[in-house]
Amino acid sequence: MRIGVLTGGGDCPGLNAVLRAIARRGERHYGDQVIGFLDGWHGLIEDRSVMLDVERCRGILPRGGTIIGTSRVQPFATVDGVDRVRATMDRHRIDALICIGGEGTLSATSRMFDLGFPVVGVPKTIDNDIGSTETTFGFDTAVQIATDAIDRLHTTAESHHRVMVVEVMGRHAGHIATWAGLAGGATVTIVPEEPFDIDEVCARILRRHRGGRFASIVVVAEGALPLEGTIGVPDRGVDEFGHVRLGGIGNILVQEIEARTGIEARLTILGHVQRGGTPTAFDRVLSSWLGVAAVDVAHDGEFGQMVAWHGGTVVRVPLADAVRERKTVSPELLDVAKTFFG
Ligand code: F6P
Repeated sequence: MRIGVLTGGGDCPGLNAVLRAIARRGERHYGDQVIGFLDGWHGLIEDRSVMLDVERCRGILPRGGTIIGTSRVQPFATVDGVDRVRATMDRHRIDALICIGGEGTLSATSRMFDLGFPVVGVPKTIDNDIGSTETTFGFDTAVQIATDAIDRLHTTAESHHRVMVVEVMGRHAGHIATWAGLAGGATVTIVPEEPFDIDEVCARILRRHRGGRFASIVVVAEGALPLEGTIGVPDRGVDEFGHVRLGGIGNILVQEIEARTGIEARLTILGHVQRGGTPTAFDRVLSSWLGVAAVDVAHDGEFGQMVAWHGGTVVRVPLADAVRERKTVSPELLDVAKTFFG
């Protein structure tokens, strides 16, 4: 078989481990040839690729990023995009295309399947917000990076009796914020799932600081919003891919907390640090397992499926189901987190 592979959307620790697994399973188990298309769908639209054999994938297991590059370019948002992808696949005699990506890439993959393309999906995102899978690789790494940062910020917060606000990634879901907030002992964690009440946030901080030399850590997901009619958030418009421009909620929180409590506050935006560098052991194993499973799906001819993590093993789920709804933080976990607020 000739298997094409692409990595789309934001980079994520574990992508290279998936590529290595696809090359290894394809070449050694089935005798396949694996072709890596460069920079996501862009590589298929422009016909740019490299051979991804076992030799080429040596040493990449612990490396962050993706050796074949990524982009947010989508065939449906590009003039003649779908036709150009089809032409590239025909030219390379691709029997199956494995698309590794987040919500945007997998939605496009699902639509390509509807048009008859032989595609298989592999979910990736540090945000962990893809449906039909219990977790995505990259999430565990991002949570560990955020938790390490919070541990370090505690000592500064304590020394200066400050409020340290930590803004983490998470546009639509607060998985990273909730897990890192819990693991790092945050005073309050604010997530997109529940609009926050600034009065309540400040009351919790004041209660903690009352009469003592205390410090607070406030973890906020970048996509979090205040309760309507409380504080204003400037509209920053959308980027070229239609994504709402985020970044700024941490700054607003710092200003409001200082003004309302009189306690000094500082902001740390973790940003892309959360997405970079080496994956945790769990993410390496999950990525490897998903890569192997994706090649097996291709050989079974089960196109339109996504490989997913469920109940401690890898299963196959319809791509269309996986992209239907974003996975948000469960009310049960939010309740556990709230037990430690204040
Ligand atoms: O990968 C998803 C994500 O990390 C979001 O949480 C974040 O808003 C976005 O990517 C940032 O992407 P970019 O690299 O385009 O700034």
